[in-house]
Amino acid sequence: MRFGIRTLDDFGDIRGKTVLCRIDINQPVDRATGKLKSINRIQACAPTIRELSEKGARVVLMAHQGSDIEYKNYYTTAPHAKVLSELLGFEVKWIDDVCGPAARDAIRELEDGDVLLLDNVRFMAEEQTLFETKLCLTHEQQAQTQVVQKLAPLGDLYVCDAFAAAHRDQPTLCGFEQILPSAMGRLFEKEYCTVSALMEEPKRPCVFVLGGAKIADAFQMMRTVLSKGSADRVLTGGLVANIFLASQNVEIGKGSLDFIMKSNYGQFIDVAKDLYSSYGDRITLPVDLAWVENGVRREAGIGEIPKDIGAVDIGGQTAAMYRQTILDARTVFVNGPAGVFEQEPSELGTKEIWRALADTEAFTVLGGGDSITATEKYGLTDRIGYICTGGGALIRFLSGEELPVVKALRHGSRI
Ligand code: 3PG
Repeated sequence: MRFGIRTLDDFGDIRGKTVLCRIDINQPVDRATGKLKSINRIQACAPTIRELSEKGARVVLMAHQGSDIEYKNYYTTAPHAKVLSELLGFEVKWIDDVCGPAARDAIRELEDGDVLLLDNVRFMAEEQTLFETKLCLTHEQQAQTQVVQKLAPLGDLYVCDAFAAAHRDQPTLCGFEQILPSAMGRLFEKEYCTVSALMEEPKRPCVFVLGGAKIADAFQMMRTVLSKGSADRVLTGGLVANIFLASQNVEIGKGSLDFIMKSNYGQFIDVAKDLYSSYGDRITLPVDLAWVENGVRREAGIGEIPKDIGAVDIGGQTAAMYRQTILDARTVFVNGPAGVFEQEPSELGTKEIWRALADTEAFTVLGGGDSITATEKYGLTDRIGYICTGGGALIRFLSGEELPVVKALRHGSRI
């Protein structure tokens, strides 16, 4: 047991047992070719699946692909099964069903060591985030949903290896633990224990670098880490920085402001104002911004930004200043890039920050899809202290919230 949760070591002999295992292999998909653009999350949970299979369990994998919040991009898990088969070196079976008769028959037919991946669990309405936020089912109620009621009777044990989805309160994540003896998988164990230990006593100075476009999460976390004193300094980039600058009545260009309003983030301007008035001495805002004109990067200092531009990056002076702060830190958490790093004219800020992460002696922790993509782009995967597969989950954890899946796993560890 670690943190009140069973690990795979606590299950004893699992040969012949059916293990229902929730993983997070949600990856960007190229819809034109049906191929996955990245496989880092699949690689990360492969050790748990391999271990369960080698121990002779009959492994049933449950996973989601796509989010109803931002992308309306549900997709089948068929390509993931192919990638998993390649990584594991044996066939991972797949079925285009989640908990209907076909899926249940496929589970009954499994032999010791077999692995079966079910289709996207979010094809079930009750597993969707919109459902979660509207209905707010308790974990006991989640245990009564179709997916849990149909699958739990076929399983002996439940394993959750989906730390990246640990902030979600959904039946395949929190319902099974009400019924089946449960444990966290190896990836969950590594991620949860690493970030827990780190948050207990971060080495000082502890710097948070917050950028990207997941605004609600970023602001919630910022308030907690500043009020609790976990963050000695917050460096802002991306949309987060633009919202702060706007809250201080600084000109950021019409394009930037329009984007904030169009994305429904106007409400955060007041939140930023309030945060800045309470903790302004620990929040660093950019001193210059960059935009692109006819494919060419342009920069100007705060106070000199032209009225009609749309900012796409922090400026060079800000990037140099952030670099120095990161070099002087002893712990650095990063969530979200400083600008549109996918395109060359707007990548300077992100590139400089990421280089500083590689050069600093501080312990660096990074999470979230875009941050991981940037790390891969700059070939720095081996030079970051810890890369967490979760973005939203890491942020919620750092916000001091008890993650729903952690709560559920503690319950299932007592069965
Ligand atoms: C993620 O990509 O952060 C996790 O897979 C959770 O996805 P969600 O935000 O769509 O629930």
